[in-house]
Amino acid sequence: MSIPTLDELKSLGAAQQPSWPDRPALDRAVATLRTMPPLVFAGECDELKSQLGEVAAGRAFLLQGGDCAETFVELTADNVRAKLQVLLQMAVVLTYGASVPVVKLGRIAGQYAKPRTSDTETRDGETLPAYRGDAVNGYPFTRESRLPDPDRLVRMYHASAVTLNLSRAFLQGGYADLRQMHAWNTDFVRTSPVGAKYEQMAAEIDRALAFMKAIGAESEELHRVAFHSSHEALILEYEQAMTRIDSRTQQPYDVSGHFLWVGERTRQLDRAHVELLSRVQNPIGVKLGPTTTSDQAEAYAEKLNPRNEPGRLTFITRMGAAKIRDVLPTLIEKVTAAGIEVAWVTDPMHGNGFETSTGYKTRRFDDVIDEVSGFFEVHRALGTWPGGMHVELTGGDVTECIGGGEALDEAGLRHRYESVCDPRLNRTQSLELAFLVAEMLRVSRD
Ligand code: PEP
Ligand code: CO
Repeated sequence: MSIPTLDELKSLGAAQQPSWPDRPALDRAVATLRTMPPLVFAGECDELKSQLGEVAAGRAFLLQGGDCAETFVELTADNVRAKLQVLLQMAVVLTYGASVPVVKLGRIAGQYAKPRTSDTETRDGETLPAYRGDAVNGYPFTRESRLPDPDRLVRMYHASAVTLNLSRAFLQGGYADLRQMHAWNTDFVRTSPVGAKYEQMAAEIDRALAFMKAIGAESEELHRVAFHSSHEALILEYEQAMTRIDSRTQQPYDVSGHFLWVGERTRQLDRAHVELLSRVQNPIGVKLGPTTTSDQAEAYAEKLNPRNEPGRLTFITRMGAAKIRDVLPTLIEKVTAAGIEVAWVTDPMHGNGFETSTGYKTRRFDDVIDEVSGFFEVHRALGTWPGGMHVELTGGDVTECIGGGEALDEAGLRHRYESVCDPRLNRTQSLELAFLVAEMLRVSRD
């Protein structure tokens, strides 16, 4: 395999690309990116691919989560730690609740570019370019801020590097040790009913750990955690500049993140995004919305995973709670009958958005649960493995999704609505989701 040139990719056509106004500045940014060291290593991508192979084979469950859109200003040690804490908490709930190994994948350290439904946004009669993520332009609604600025691609690289550095330090420096389980449960979670349930489970695990220690059965696995990064491969200039030939295998890898996916709006089979991912060796995903046909799904497998390697390809379905039970069975049946190796993952977020009368983009916690339930039901009926879940969440106490145990209502959204893009589950909602899914997973495993 060779690295496709940017011109080659662009000649195929690509959806959702910014109109960069300053071409020389774009060329300079790309030239800078080409000189930058890799953010991740090929061997790490291969390790994740083999973990995802376990998911495809029905022996592990994928938990993929993080912000809809990361932002430069929110990149603080506290925010990164909080996101890792909630992912670790969810992972331990799933592992313990279902006795299934959980592959942990952050939607983090690179999730800076967003596809948009409309190229422009109009407020009070003024129309400006839509916000496409901090990789491209600024969120404030002014002409200057909304102008795409290629220097932001270089900032995205640095922000990703800082985030990965912090994540690696937190997770390898003892923070991911299971004995820290109580420390991951921060104050506002601990005082909620689901926080108390978590404490109870953690106490049980403590006893199990003490028992293992007493019999001399302690393992390294208790003290460290494997964690990888992922984002949507959207901006061609960035992803192509970060694609490099690995010195060991002589194969191209996109070293901007371990796992890359193409989104619902850029998954055209013969266009640039799918082509780029077909040429790299990373484990990759494709988001599949409700209009996906089984012929398309088979064609993705043929193009993106011609050797049918387990772990290489993940289908992330985002059908919406109302459609999943109708649409998913045929897809899975056809793909399975064709002998295709794939990990099936549910994204219960992107098919369930709506806008409130007060203008907030939100999702109902109940719809999220309903889509996940549908996903498990369909797999159970077909005898296939519900491989994982992809969620938008934050470590903070935000008020962006409606419902959950604390019964957040529409009026409550305004208190802490902080997302610059899609609404995220807050920390207690995320933990509740993990407990509910652990139960579904336990049943599937039995
Ligand atoms: C997303 O993951 O933020 C997203 C835009 O998803 P999708 O491509 O599934 O719409
Ligand atoms: Co989103």
